[in-house]
Amino acid sequence: MKLSTMTGRLERAKPLDPVVRVVTNAVNKVLPQGPVKDVLHGRWLGHPLHPLLVTVPIGLWSGASFLDITSGESGRDAARRLVGAGVLAVAPTAAAGWADWSELGSSSRPKRVGIVHAASNTVSAAFYGASWLARRGGNHRRGRDLALLGAASVAVGGYLGGHLSYNEGVGVSRNIDAQLKPTEWTDAAPAANLPDDGVLGVHVAGQQVALVCSQGEVYAMGATCSHLGGPLPQGAVQDGCLVCPWHGSRFRLRDGGVARGPASVPQISYDVRTLAGRIQIKVRR
Ligand code: FES
Repeated sequence: MKLSTMTGRLERAKPLDPVVRVVTNAVNKVLPQGPVKDVLHGRWLGHPLHPLLVTVPIGLWSGASFLDITSGESGRDAARRLVGAGVLAVAPTAAAGWADWSELGSSSRPKRVGIVHAASNTVSAAFYGASWLARRGGNHRRGRDLALLGAASVAVGGYLGGHLSYNEGVGVSRNIDAQLKPTEWTDAAPAANLPDDGVLGVHVAGQQVALVCSQGEVYAMGATCSHLGGPLPQGAVQDGCLVCPWHGSRFRLRDGGVARGPASVPQISYDVRTLAGRIQIKVRR
């Protein structure tokens, strides 16, 4: 059976949904939306943190297996340390992954794949933990074999992680196709159409734009939420931010920056002026 057929079945595996619901609730209890979760989402980086962190345990564990295969007895201590360091790196890596996964809302297909991805990586960590214990107990051969089993499980988890990003678009900015237009002042809407402390969705130069009025000032940003594509013109204006109606990401009105996740990528931001009762915008560079 093709890998793509298997992942397709996984995406449609409704029996996973009760597990997904229970785990989502548990993760959201341990990691409610807030500054800690934002750090794990990678808001401070401007893109998701989890894909960066996964390279750490995988790199360390790959190095250990390389030493196991090529260095014989002289590489045993170093291999054990690499395996142990990789196990230690699992905690922040998994926390970042759970943070992102828990904010996929009702997107059931990536959530089903994501929970199997996490289960596979948990099995990997267990194999590598057992490998480290075996090595510490002097049983290098057993440690090496357990590490190879861990590597096989990492491959499964890695494949599913790649599928989540490349096929499901998890962690990919939904503004990727937006163009930085208009570059010159362009008419957007009559000022009278934009209510006080309200939001208006408009099309300008082929781009979807959210015009926002807050405390008498007019702002403009891309209308498609960078997280999972939520419609920002349907969002609410709060504390100098536009709040996405889907998962609550907050984008600063003044520059489109992310004030609160789960989004980690800023919105396109526009300069705004009002001339003769018409709102005009141009992309901010
Ligand atoms: S789509 Fe998820 S926060 Fe906007």
